[in-house]
Amino acid sequence: MSTTEKSAASGIGPVEGAGALSYSVDNPAPYIEAPRQRTKKTPKSTRGNFEMAAWLFMRLSGIVLVVLVIGHLLIQLVLDGGVSKIGFAFVAGRWASPFWQTWDLAMLWLAMLHGANGLRTIINDYAERPNTRLWLKGLLYTATVFTILLGTLVIFTFDPNIR
Ligand code: HEM
Repeated sequence: MSTTEKSAASGIGPVEGAGALSYSVDNPAPYIEAPRQRTKKTPKSTRGNFEMAAWLFMRLSGIVLVVLVIGHLLIQLVLDGGVSKIGFAFVAGRWASPFWQTWDLAMLWLAMLHGANGLRTIINDYAERPNTRLWLKGLLYTATVFTILLGTLVIFTFDPNIR
């Protein structure tokens, strides 16, 4: 049996125009049943738009992060004496400005939410047992909330006169 005959016998047709068999009115493509039939009770959507929003968020936060992270690296490691200038006084000087406080806050929130959402995707892809997923995601969300809250607290309560 040739490949075309095999695929025709299985009900899965070849790509149109790809071989001797191409679909026409006399030779229609096979009708494939929907896996589940919708009934009146079937909700319009079972998941909402969360995954689409998350997909979009990864792209938008990624673009903003490029600017925030490259700016951060330039200032911390390249400009004005490089890494050797970094110390308590340098941090105190920068966080005296609402501009740099906002910059660092945005970087913290975006990197944490972007990274956490990326890891959520990886857990969904690789952890198969429901219990494993539950524990890994529980750990991930706990660590994310803890780091975001602690970082935000530090940025807003930083005291340059601490002894
Ligand atoms: C600097 C600029 C960044 C850009 C442009 C960027 C861009 C992206 C994009 C577009 C995705 C989605 C990929 C997909 O859905 O297939 C992604 C995934 C991810 N990103 Fe970023 N990202 C950046 C920074 C970061 C940072 C700072 C972290 C960590 C805190 C991070 C961690 C991740 C993780 C864990 C994933 C999931 C990977 C996967 O699904 O395989 N990214 N990134």
